[in-house]
Amino acid sequence: MPDYQNLLVEEADRILYVTVNRPQALNALNQQTMGELAALFGKDYADRRDLTGVLLTGAGDRAFVAGADIKEFLGVAAAGSGEEMATRGQDVFFLIENFHRPVIALVNGFALGGGCELAMACHLRVAVDTARFGQPEVNLGIIPGYGGTQRLNQLIGKGKAMELTLTGNMINAVEAHRLGLVNYCLPAAEARAKAIELLNTIGQKGPVAIEESIKAINAYYAGSDFVAEAKSFGRASGTKDFAEGAAAFVEKRAANFKGA
Ligand code: COA
Repeated sequence: MPDYQNLLVEEADRILYVTVNRPQALNALNQQTMGELAALFGKDYADRRDLTGVLLTGAGDRAFVAGADIKEFLGVAAAGSGEEMATRGQDVFFLIENFHRPVIALVNGFALGGGCELAMACHLRVAVDTARFGQPEVNLGIIPGYGGTQRLNQLIGKGKAMELTLTGNMINAVEAHRLGLVNYCLPAAEARAKAIELLNTIGQKGPVAIEESIKAINAYYAGSDFVAEAKSFGRASGTKDFAEGAAAFVEKRAANFKGA
């Protein structure tokens, strides 16, 4: 089995269990973790047609993934490479969205920013009833850059996507379920079993039919503009406001934005 630093990977009964494992940072996605997700979905397991599917979750009981690693990505933005960073991140999530077997996110806590975007790139989402969702990037002076401006629209429609993205407000799992952001909202003890049940149900169907269903449904959304998102992310992440927003997060205070 390949070696990963920030992913716990186990295989049992043809299901691959992948856990993002940085609990000290609420499983925030640093570049190392993004690279490992890319390796797993794009290379290490890309030809494993014997798998039923993948269950993706976060370590501990507080977070699925609390976003991109803000502390690390301040440096990326300072280097003026925000657009490339967003494009690279989008490419990793495309590997998940286009994976040949279903990937189910078991959302076991905060799914914020890149964490909400990661869950949305999965084929299905099962939320623990204590989970919380949001695109809080505007609190930092940036925008979602890993596909959130496109996939949130797809899942919950423009009005609510606009509200969540512009306010940065968090919603609970019950509301996420009501909006169609997640497929199920269940107590912790039942949520994992539900995700496994879904994978096993899908695993009994014709594998080619499953692979082609994923392709065909994704094809409907091929007109989404991820390039525009990366450009907008690049512009916002190059501002002094982002430096201020990220500094405010680290210093645990409110940001003082100037609009430049
Ligand atoms: N990047 C880097 N570190 C993060 C992080 C992130 N996205 N989210 C949380 N952490 C770290 C915190 O800095 C903190 O580290 P510390 O103990 O060294 O101070 C640790 O994880 C625990 O988080 P903390 O903020 O103390 O927990 P909380 O319960 O008070 O708040 C959240 C939880 C999720 C509401 C809060 O951590 C948060 O707002 N995180 C950022 C969410 C975000 O903006 N994501 C989008 C990024 S683009």
